[in-house]
Amino acid sequence: MAGVLAEIALFQPVVCVAGECRRIIHCNRVNRINGEPLTEARMQGKRILLGVTGGIAAYKSPDLVRRLRELGAEVQVVMTAAAREFVTAATFQAVSGRPVRTDLWDAAAEAAMGHIELARWAELVLIAPASADFLARLATGQADDLLTTLCLATESPIAVAPAMNRVMWANAATRANVETLQQRGIQVFGPAEGEQACGEVGAGRMLEPLELVDRARFLTTREGPLRGRRVLITAGPTRERIDPVRFISNRSSGKMGFAVAQAAREAGAEVVLVCGPVSLATPAGIRRIDVESAADMLNAVMGEVCGADIFISTAAVADYRPAAPAEQKIKKTTEHMDLSMERTPDVLATVAALPHRPFVVGFAAETESVEQHARGKLMKKNLDMIAANEVGHDKAFDCEDNALIVLWRNARRELSRAPKVTLARQLVALIAESYAAGKSGLAQRGSAGSALA
Ligand code: CTP
Repeated sequence: MAGVLAEIALFQPVVCVAGECRRIIHCNRVNRINGEPLTEARMQGKRILLGVTGGIAAYKSPDLVRRLRELGAEVQVVMTAAAREFVTAATFQAVSGRPVRTDLWDAAAEAAMGHIELARWAELVLIAPASADFLARLATGQADDLLTTLCLATESPIAVAPAMNRVMWANAATRANVETLQQRGIQVFGPAEGEQACGEVGAGRMLEPLELVDRARFLTTREGPLRGRRVLITAGPTRERIDPVRFISNRSSGKMGFAVAQAAREAGAEVVLVCGPVSLATPAGIRRIDVESAADMLNAVMGEVCGADIFISTAAVADYRPAAPAEQKIKKTTEHMDLSMERTPDVLATVAALPHRPFVVGFAAETESVEQHARGKLMKKNLDMIAANEVGHDKAFDCEDNALIVLWRNARRELSRAPKVTLARQLVALIAESYAAGKSGLAQRGSAGSALA
């Protein structure tokens, strides 16, 4: 990390994208993201279908095309009718070096490469900017223009970079559409927070072209910082049986754990997700093992931990379970009822105590003295890192947003309130840095984050 900071000092200016924690350095045609040089070969020959929809952020899309091509990608631009109100097709044709496709009914273009052929050609469909209207049409599976038709017809990954007014982004209809798209495995890049074209300030800005290039590169090359690493993650609540129809559980939705799993996958890792009962779709490319109780979770984790490089324990595992679950439904025969409870196994502490253990990251859910309690768990459970969040009173559990304090033995870092997916990416970037630092001997296990102070 200290190395990255030193590099930043050498390559001014630094562009920080609001709401994201990545470092993007422009230096003429040499671009660096998180200190890593992007060379021409990085996306050589990758076929990107760039969809441009109607929004003021479309003015940034020609630069996005240019950046993708600088890395060696081939870019075919498809514009919606609304997009052409903002930028001309001639501009995109000039920067992409290909005729722009705009119409499903263009006989000449269809003869050259039909829309199904085009959908097959694309290795990644990236929509930037994606307007609220386009997200709605995509979520409802419409195929009323060339771009929506291509999205339905492709088997390749689809990513959208939303851009709109902050109130439109916060609207319940847009939120629901975005959730639907994410559940179908469509990647949502951003949006960032900041000043908007309409003069308002908030979430809804399209991510900067270099940030989008970085994400597109991960999707097409899987060349993230966790490439080749095996990451085991627990998520969601557990259920502890009282009798055949009742159980004890908690309010965890599993959203943070699923977001961490998705971010680890985007960073190139092979991800195994062990999860308690949740109603969430599995992110693309992740192996999921469903469990119910804390004991089931421990069994599943112990079956997978051998060979795991990193273990991230986001699950809200029940601490106690009924000591003697009833075989039959318990009847209400008395005025009072006492339930005898016993401790469940601590999955995280068990993994951290293994002789050949992976890099171990815990989570701490606290209602008060967040940092103090989390630090206690870091030490007591012998973890490499812990991410602490405040829960209760509509915080963290079953919410879209979260905020984290990340702790190492000798360091701390605050990740400010953001959508869980954004926060998960920031956390995974920190985990990857700490893991790499520990591997390369730059830091001792358990104090890998010391340079982050
Ligand atoms: N954890 C676990 N197994 C348990 C309990 C907790 O693996 N039986 C893990 C969680 O996944 C989390 C960390 O331990 O990564 C801390 O969980 P948390 O619920 O915050 O704390 P506890 O250790 O359960 O302690 P307490 O409930 O007293 O705060």
